[in-house]
Amino acid sequence: MIAPSGAGCGRSGFDFSGIIRNRTNYGSRKGSLQEKKDMNIIVVKDYNEMSYQAAQLIAEQITNKRKSVLGLATGSTPECMYKELINLNQEDKVDFSEVITFNLDEYYGLPPEHPQSYYFFMWNNFFKHVNIKKENIHLLNGISENIDKECAQYEALIKKSGGIDLQVLGIGNNGHIGFNEPDINLNTKTHLVNLTAKTIRANSRFFNTAQKVPKQAITMGIGTIMRARKIILLAYGKRKARVIEKTINSPITTKVPATVLQLHNDVTIIVDQEAAF
Ligand code: GLP
Repeated sequence: MIAPSGAGCGRSGFDFSGIIRNRTNYGSRKGSLQEKKDMNIIVVKDYNEMSYQAAQLIAEQITNKRKSVLGLATGSTPECMYKELINLNQEDKVDFSEVITFNLDEYYGLPPEHPQSYYFFMWNNFFKHVNIKKENIHLLNGISENIDKECAQYEALIKKSGGIDLQVLGIGNNGHIGFNEPDINLNTKTHLVNLTAKTIRANSRFFNTAQKVPKQAITMGIGTIMRARKIILLAYGKRKARVIEKTINSPITTKVPATVLQLHNDVTIIVDQEAAF
């Protein structure tokens, strides 16, 4: 995965002048939003701070509830957040021994050992470095022979675990969360989805060529995500500024799936200054 240029995952030089705002005083371009519920928006200096703040929120969640159920994301955005969590775990500041995780999505057709599978990403960037129990980790199987069953079982397991306490999200340039792509309808449950040309193009940076990017994926549905008790959405860099602006200010539309987050009661958006429009 690609980390932002010039940014490591070091903790030095943090500037906690992090501006914490809610939507009502976020310089909204649409006054009507002022009647809506607040989304917590935290604008931080850079990618490192975004990662650190996100890790702190997750650590706080686990400190408050050792058996927390976490919904986890992949992509370049949360990479350093995982490094921060690994550091906190190694310093005995957060204990994953009772934590249960469910990942958001997986490419359809990629086996777990494929370097671009989200299974591979999660094990290499996070799970193998912390004291989480293997049996508490849940990832979608991209090569399942019965996708409907795979999806139904995943939903059932989330329910059996008591539901997701804290869901971490990145965001696609087109507003997708998980792999819920812009469409006429949004699927509520875990399902197989066709990736849009825009997403295939965006993710081709991990595959050398667009031809190698899987054309389909399995993803938690919008309902699965919205049932999480808390949601943290992360974004950094100029290329995300437009979609973050839409997520916060656009009318809710299936054309920008992340806009549905406006309806959730406990969403925190952490963005760096470049992604803050
Ligand atoms: C991928 C994933 C999303 C992720 C998004 C952004 O397609 N399915 O879960 O949030 O794209 O990726 P990145 O963080 O690399 O910008």
